[in-house]
This record gives sequence, structure tokens and C-alpha cells, in this order.
Amino acid sequence: SGVTKNLFSAISDPKPMTSRKVTVVGIGAVGMATAVSLLCQGISNDICLIDVMEDRLKGEMMDLQHGSLFLHNPKIHASKDFKSSAGSKVCIVTAGVRQQEGESRLDLVQRNANILKTTIPALCQHSPDAILIIVSNPCDILTYVAWKLSKLPVNRVFGSGTNLDSSRFRFLIAQRLGCSTSSVHGWIIGEHGDSSVPVWSGVNIAGVRLKDIAPKMGDDDDPELWKKVHKDVIDAAYQIIKLKGFTNWAIGLSAAALTNTILTNQHNVHAVSVMVKGRHGLDYEVFLSLPAVIGANGVEKVVMQHLAPNERCALKFSAAMLSEIQCGIKL
Ligand code: NAD
Ligand code: LAC
Repeated sequence: SGVTKNLFSAISDPKPMTSRKVTVVGIGAVGMATAVSLLCQGISNDICLIDVMEDRLKGEMMDLQHGSLFLHNPKIHASKDFKSSAGSKVCIVTAGVRQQEGESRLDLVQRNANILKTTIPALCQHSPDAILIIVSNPCDILTYVAWKLSKLPVNRVFGSGTNLDSSRFRFLIAQRLGCSTSSVHGWIIGEHGDSSVPVWSGVNIAGVRLKDIAPKMGDDDDPELWKKVHKDVIDAAYQIIKLKGFTNWAIGLSAAALTNTILTNQHNVHAVSVMVKGRHGLDYEVFLSLPAVIGANGVEKVVMQHLAPNERCALKFSAAMLSEIQCGIKL
């Protein structure tokens, strides 16, 4: 325009991309919580939103853009065309149907697998170097589907998995003990869902294993009923869905934390859904959560926890069940 011409004296053309571009596919409750978490924490300053609902996309984009003064001037794009996702470092998939009251995560499988058939190849085409994080449910099975469709190596595709369940677990234990969530060390592994596995054998505060103090912790005959904490983790989503219709804030923060670990190459350990074949004696080609070191290359290594026999057994049960469901998916 005339103003730009008279105001500036040009030296070079701007570069179109930044090094922290993140695409979020699906701008429902979870996608928008993820985008806001990324922006408010300054994890990314370049966000692309993708969805099939054009008016809503434009509305969400405008609303976020009007906050740019308070967000350190990020780039915010939105489109139903995957071309605008080009050059992303991380792509987070939150598209798909969510559970209605009474539905389990596994009930959503074929409907959400169908969505991946179009989204995953398009993401890979435009961002061939990206790390893919799958959040849509059932998270573990959809991570397997996304991995197959993407033809990427296993380090480049993982599911947000039990990073969220572990956070819920640590919060609930912290509440009972009267200390902070981050001071409680404990892991939930396995399925993000009803068959998740709490690793009671490793729960500790400042290196003090709670099992050494209360040997029956997590067992059926525990007088202190610690098992209820895991039950509450499993029930958490059902309870919140009953109360407000969906869950979004905690998963948005969890997905943003995973993205931050990748973009800053931090090598943090998170419980995420990874290919488990060959680990903990599992022979199924399924994705389940295990603690893993995450960096710029995605999943770098898995931490081999010293699981108790009942924990290994529970993990095997999840793997067998997911493997059976996977066989029924039409890809
Ligand atoms: P939502 O209904 O609010 O939003 C879903 C969005 O996906 C909609 O905007 C819809 O238009 C979009 N979508 C559908 N098909 C698409 C396609 N082909 N391409 C692009 N976008 C498409 O749902 P939500 O509450 O945001 O939940 C999204 C998913 O995340 C659900 O599967 C839910 O179960 C899952 N979820 C996972 C976790 C987790 O911990 N892994 C936590 C919460 C929710
Ligand atoms: C959760 C979703 C529903 O909040 O998977 O756990």
C-alpha cells in the first residue's frame, strides 16, 4: 500500500516460516485448549489450525489473533487446506468424535481411524520432517493407525497416552499426602483408558518408596484403599464428561508440554504411547504408554521400569486387547 511504501525502505523479503511452527488438527474443545496452552506459555509463536468447519475456523483464528498483543505477536493461521500446515515441526492431531456419556474411548475407533486416512498423509506431505502427536481417542490404537498411514519411523509418531493419566495420578496422591503434584513421582503406563496400569512399585516422594512404608499400597486388601486413587484416575474422564460434556484443559496442557519437550530438545521423560513390541516381554505390534525420553527427534528411548509381576501381567492384558481391536480396523 501507499503507507507501507512511504513508511519503510525495504532491504530484504521476510522469511515465511519460523522454526517453532506447530499445526493443530481439530479445533474442538481439545484442539483449542492445546493451541491456547501453546500460545500462552510461549511454546510456539507460529500456530496453524486445521479443521473441516470453515466458519468456526475463521472465528477461532480471529479471536486468537485479537489476543496477539498479549501473546508476544504470534503467527496464527487457520485453514481447511493442509497446505497452510507446511513446514511444521510438530503436528498434533485432535480431530474426531468424542465420547458421549456412557461411551468408552474404544467405542470411537473406526470413526476416528477414518479421519486419519485423510489427515495423516496430508500432514506428512506438507511437513515431511514433523513429529506427529496423536491425541484423538482411542489414543493408543489411533497412534498405531497414524504410524501405519504415515510410513514414518516409530520415533516420529507417538500418542499423548498416559502423560495425562500420570498427571491425574500424581495430583490425586498429592492431595492425599498434602504436598505438591510435582513432588509426587509416580507413573501410569499402558492404555490411555480403562485398562491403564498404575506402577505402585515405583511411587515415591524424595526417593522414599511409598510401598516400603505401606507394603499393601495398590493391592485389593490394602487397609488404606490406595487402589481407589487409580480407580479415580480411570473414572476421571467419565466424571468430567458427565459434569461438563468433555475434557480439554488438562489434555491441552499435556499436549503442549510434550510439544515443548520436542521443540526445545529437552530429553524430558514423559509417559507416551510408543511401539511396545519387544519390551517387557510383549510380542504385540501395539502402541501403549511407557516412560520415554523425548527430544527433537521424537521418542529417543524408553525407560525400562522394573515392573512387578502383576504390573507386567496387566500390561500384557492391555496389549492383547488392543491388538485384537486393531485387527478389526479397516484401513
Ligand atoms: P470436538 O467435537 O469438540 O472437536 C473435534 C473437532 O474435530 C471438530 O472441530 C471437528 O470439526 C473436527 N474434525 C472432524 N473431522 C475432521 C477432519 N477430517 N479433519 C479435521 N478436523 C476434523 O471434540 P474434542 O472434545 O475436541 O475431542 C477431540 C478428540 O480428542 C476426541 O476423540 C476425544 O475423545 C479426544 N480426547 C483425547 C484425550 C486424550 O487424553 N488423549 C483427552 C480428551 C479428548
Ligand atoms: C480424557 C480423554 C477423554 O480426558 O481421553 O482422559
